[in-house]
Amino acid sequence: MATSTAPSPTVRKGRSSILLKTVVAVTGLFFVLFVLAHMAGNLWILVGREPFDEYAHHLRTFGEPMLPERGFLWVFRIALLVSLVGHVWATMALWARAGQARKTRYAGKKKTSYGGFYAKAMRWGGLALLAFVIFHILHFTTQTVTPAGAFESPAERVISSFDIWWVVLIYVLAMVALGMHLLHGVWGAAMTLGLNTSLKRAEQIRFVSVALATVVVVGFLIPPFAILFGIIE
Ligand code: HEM
Repeated sequence: MATSTAPSPTVRKGRSSILLKTVVAVTGLFFVLFVLAHMAGNLWILVGREPFDEYAHHLRTFGEPMLPERGFLWVFRIALLVSLVGHVWATMALWARAGQARKTRYAGKKKTSYGGFYAKAMRWGGLALLAFVIFHILHFTTQTVTPAGAFESPAERVISSFDIWWVVLIYVLAMVALGMHLLHGVWGAAMTLGLNTSLKRAEQIRFVSVALATVVVVGFLIPPFAILFGIIE
C-alpha cells in the first residue's frame, strides 16, 4: 500500500524557519567580518591624516588593473546590500511567524519573559542600526548630510565631524546599539548553526560574543573620542 511521504505543514514550516534563521545567521556573520575590518581600518586615523587617506584610496583602487577603479568597492557594496536585504527580509518573516504563533498559543495572555525582552531589543536595536547606516552613508560617503562641511579628503571629513559633540553622541548611541546587537546576535547565530552543544560551549560562545562586542565598540569609538578631546588634530 502506498503511503504519502510529503512532510506535514508543521514540518514544512519548521524547516523553512530553520532556513530563515540560517540566512539571518550567515549574513550576520558576514556583517561581523565587515565591522571588524571597518573598525580596524578606521584606526589608521590614529597614525595620521595621510595614512588614513592612503588607506581610503587603497580601498578604491584595490584589484587594479584587473578591476576598474572602485570595482572591488562596488562588488563589496553589492554583497553588503544583498546581505542586508536578506538579513532584514528573513528577520521580518521570522517576526511575522512568531507573532502568529503567539496569537494562537497565548490568546488572551500577555507574554513577558527574558527572551521576549531580548527579542524586542534585537528588533528595535536592529531598526536603529538600519537608520544609523543610512545616516552614516549620507554623512561620510555621499556627504549629503554635512554637519561640518564637505571635504575631498576622508581624514578631513572624519576629523571635522567628530570635533562636534552631538555628532560624537550620535555615533556613541549607534555603537551601543551595535554592541547590544552583536552580544545577542552572536549567541543567536551560534544556536542556529548548532554550535551550542554543551555547557562549556555555551560559556565559550558567551565569552566570544562579549569579547567581540567590546572590541568592536571600543575600537570604533577610539577615533571619535580621540578627535573630540584633541588627541588627534
Ligand atoms: C565611529 C564609527 C565609524 C566611523 C568613524 C566610520 C567611518 C566611515 C567613513 C569615513 C566612511 C567613508 C569611507 C569613504 O568613502 O572614504 C564609512 C563608510 C561606511 N561605513 Fe562606517 N564608520 C563607523 C561605523 C560604522 C558602522 C558601525 C557601520 C555598520 C554597521 C558602518 C558602515 C559603513 C558603510 C556601509 C560605509 C559605506 C561604504 C561604501 O560603500 O563606501 N560604519 N565609514
